[in-house]
Amino acid sequence: MQIGILGSGMVGQTVGAKLVELGHDVVIGTRDPAKISEWLQQVGGSARAGSGAEAAAHGEIVVNATAGTASLDALNAAGAENLRGKILIDIANPLQFVDGKPTLTISNTDSLAEQIQRAFPDTRVVKTLNTLNAPLMVNPAALADGDHTIFVSGDDADAKAQVIDLLRDGFGWRNIVDLGDISTARGTEALLLIWVQLWGALGTPSFNFKIVQ
Ligand SMILES: NC(=O)c1ccc[n+]([C@@H]2O[C@H](COP(=O)([O-])OP(=O)(O)OC[C@H]3O[C@@H](n4cnc5c(N)ncnc54)[C@H](OP(=O)(O)O)[C@@H]3O)[C@@H](O)[C@H]2O)c1
Repeated sequence: MQIGILGSGMVGQTVGAKLVELGHDVVIGTRDPAKISEWLQQVGGSARAGSGAEAAAHGEIVVNATAGTASLDALNAAGAENLRGKILIDIANPLQFVDGKPTLTISNTDSLAEQIQRAFPDTRVVKTLNTLNAPLMVNPAALADGDHTIFVSGDDADAKAQVIDLLRDGFGWRNIVDLGDISTARGTEALLLIWVQLWGALGTPSFNFKIVQ
């Protein structure tokens, strides 16, 4: 499948490398393609770098791996016409540090995922993977034998089903909780406040939430 990734940070590179390993045709959209030339050499395959618009146009599925505070700008630069009708997997968090403390720039009555869905009504936004560290996103088996939980939010049932297939069959997730419509991303984005504190308390970012009932 053709997949476009917006953002070339840790998440874009980690998810991109896994998608290449799975045989997908990946274009990473970045403002500075030279920055990821080493990464491109490492992953090999068909991966290449381009502008955000090129990555979005390329993708049958597009991944938002940009800084949450810049996501709407990055998506606007990628172009609504290049995102029309497509699934957008939104991994970004509206996280900002104020006086060294984690703060959400969007919260309570709204979420970044909802803002993206409102700004791009013809794009099918699915929020997922934003509640854990990048290496675990694509390799849940690295922790607790994969027995921990990932959340999915989105308005479009077919889009969510396709993303769940990728999470399960591609990345190896077994415990996938469909929280409901895109507004449920308010909860998973807000998890970042406790997630950052847990990183400090545990001394490692390699942990996750497990829902038991
Ligand atoms: N790191 C993690 O383990 C983790 C875990 C869960 C969720 N997340 C979320 O995933 C997203 C990506 O995280 P990250 O750690 O990979 O990197 P990051 O440093 O949060 O994001 C950097 C990416 O955002 C893009 N960006 C920044 N400002 C931009 C602008 N004005 N216009 C267009 N693009 C812009 C940059 O793209 P260029 O290539 O153009 O520079 C860069 O690749 C974030 O929203 C983060 O909260 C991260």
